[in-house]
Amino acid sequence: MNNEASLLVNDEVKDWETLMFLYSSALKEMNTKIDILRDEFEYRNHYNPIEHVTSRVKTAASIVRKLKREGHETDIYSMQKYLNDIAGLRIVCSFTSDIYKIADMISNMSDIKVLVIKNYIASPKASGYKSYHMIVTVPVFLSEGPVETKVEIQIRTIAMDFWASLEHKIYYKFEGNAPDYIKTELIECAKMINTLDERMLSLNEAIQALAGDEEEN
Ligand code: GTP
Ligand code: MG
Repeated sequence: MNNEASLLVNDEVKDWETLMFLYSSALKEMNTKIDILRDEFEYRNHYNPIEHVTSRVKTAASIVRKLKREGHETDIYSMQKYLNDIAGLRIVCSFTSDIYKIADMISNMSDIKVLVIKNYIASPKASGYKSYHMIVTVPVFLSEGPVETKVEIQIRTIAMDFWASLEHKIYYKFEGNAPDYIKTELIECAKMINTLDERMLSLNEAIQALAGDEEEN
């Protein structure tokens, strides 16, 4: 079993409704935090690094499927112990450099605890998948006190998101058993996406430098 997956933050919650309420509230909290970051960025720097944000709570069917697949009991305790992605937030940015800025800003929020970081940008997956993943906890303030609740945050560029969405669709069709030539082709596409991100980033840097020169003159 993957050690990183056994992060038991809170085993106090005993019923499904409360647990689901916590996960959806944690997403509301995180969405607001990201909204505020974006607004602040916009008025301070006249620049918005975030293209869009999506979030979802894992469905009951998908929770049960994952617990079974990993050989765990399908109960409330197992869910909290073994699943880190019941609440999921995806932040899609413009440039690769924005990803690290956003990750840093999230890590610096005093009420957020970072449990795990998986940097699939520095070390892409064998599939070609790239993204920056963080498992964090955010406190949800219930009447009896705060409950630290786990959220999986995926941060990626629009290009990485484009690749991941299509790759996911293709893989789904093959139920994970895609023929080798398709896997190879997807890896090739991931390389093209990577080149695109690099070129867009240097283009942006060149434009910023030009804009800086003009301001000085
Ligand atoms: P899951 O059981 O899939 O959640 O994986 P994990 O718990 O080992 O975590 P990991 O960080 O590997 O992946 C978490 C999530 O990242 C997945 O649920 C997907 O949303 C996304 N992801 C990871 N690998 C891939 C990939 O090869 N292709 C795509 N499209 N998405 C991926
Ligand atoms: Mg997942």
